[in-house]
Amino acid sequence: MGKASSEGSIFTIFGATGDLSRRKLLPALYRSHAAGLIDPRVRILGVSRQDLNDESFRALAAESLSAAGIEGDAVPAFLARLHYFATPSGNPDNFTRLKETLLELGRSRNIPENYCFYLSLPPRVFGPTIAGLGSVGLNVSNEKGWTRVIVEKPFGTDLDTARKLNATIHEHFTEEQIYRIDHYLGKETVQNLLVFRLANAFIESSWNRERVESVQITVGESLGVGSRAGYYDQSGALRDMLQNHITQLIALVAMEVPTSFSADAIRYEKLKVLRSIRPIESSDVIRGRYTAGTIDGEKVKGYLEEDGVPADSETETFLAVKMGIDSWRWQGVPFYIRTGKRMPVKTSQIAVRFRGAPVRYFERLGCSQDIADVLTITLQPNEGFAFHFDIKVPGNPLRLEKVPLRFFYGDHFHGVMPDAYQTLLLDVLEGDQTLFVHGDEVEESWRVYQRLLDAPPPVHDYAAGTWGPQAADALAIPETELWQGTRG
Ligand code: BG6
Repeated sequence: MGKASSEGSIFTIFGATGDLSRRKLLPALYRSHAAGLIDPRVRILGVSRQDLNDESFRALAAESLSAAGIEGDAVPAFLARLHYFATPSGNPDNFTRLKETLLELGRSRNIPENYCFYLSLPPRVFGPTIAGLGSVGLNVSNEKGWTRVIVEKPFGTDLDTARKLNATIHEHFTEEQIYRIDHYLGKETVQNLLVFRLANAFIESSWNRERVESVQITVGESLGVGSRAGYYDQSGALRDMLQNHITQLIALVAMEVPTSFSADAIRYEKLKVLRSIRPIESSDVIRGRYTAGTIDGEKVKGYLEEDGVPADSETETFLAVKMGIDSWRWQGVPFYIRTGKRMPVKTSQIAVRFRGAPVRYFERLGCSQDIADVLTITLQPNEGFAFHFDIKVPGNPLRLEKVPLRFFYGDHFHGVMPDAYQTLLLDVLEGDQTLFVHGDEVEESWRVYQRLLDAPPPVHDYAAGTWGPQAADALAIPETELWQGTRG
């Protein structure tokens, strides 16, 4: 994970002029370039329908870097790595010409035939692009070089479409060549979950139904849908956050100890968790949709008033779900999940609530010992951990207080946290699939939610700037104050 790339290759971005490429991919590749982490023989080929050339694509990239706050001496050399290939729509020769361009670029710069193809494209063109690459032989890995294809979410819109998409990709690429991106897996704190669990024996030995009472995962965002209504209204919180990012978090929290720290071993254990998630009852799900409200003193519109949202939309912008995992480790431990747009703050947090002491001496002595010990793992912002446990308040009478033992990345490591895309793109260049989602995992995670997709429960309103519909409280999430992000 996150090694340097040490081979020449051509990194092709389909959709190179689009939002993801400009905001995330080009800045991420730049940062790796500036840190000396990518081989000088790595070239980047932007592909899009726009009528640009190398020069104008470099200008667009320079703008994107500066919009991401990137300036400095390393920029010109990075821009010199960029090339451009236009694919006029409807031109049947696009893929033949693309292949010639790649071969020529490789020959003239002594780059081996190593190719990454990043599909930063609308889902409807995934299939044709994969087939196009296959039709000209840009899908093979052989003695001349390797080929890898990187697929962005959404990976299908339900179990059936995900299966079909897997089948289409597998017609041309093997699983070892496919890198399904879930940017949450590239976040430092998410990777640290594994280290935290597996490098600290006392944590792992408490990480089970004997010691843990519940697990609560919160991914709240203060932003609304903004200009993405066209996409979001077709997705909602389930397809946009739960099926992918949050399900990956559940899998990492709940998986068994893998036999090694390798891609296959970890992905195998994650898959087992997904297979063990109990079918979700609709009584364990609350769907919500934000109405007008106030966030940080600013008035914001309701979801139905956002540009591009149909007046009769039934899409949820909030979800609370209670899940059970039928495994020896987690049987009987509820996993409470909440995610929503237009929450009061942006926060992603995992809270593990430990069982109380078997004998409550201090209660007998009249002390309140109401909240269990809780470990909170904050993924963003203010990345870090806090362990909330009881201590004696100095003096008399005897009183207990819950206090946090805290660690913040920002206090200890003073650099900027690497961006998820930087880590993930380096891993693609290195051929490390640990932080990418296997085809079986994607299908299994759609299976978990298919019942909800088929028969979605009703949508409840909540005011923007609140923590979701009141009905969600009926799920009896115990740590209300943790969910509300008031404890770090
Ligand atoms: C994206 C979703 O995948 O993740 C967005 O499409 C969401 O709707 C985003 O805002 C959240 O990512 P992060 O890294 O800001 O938590």
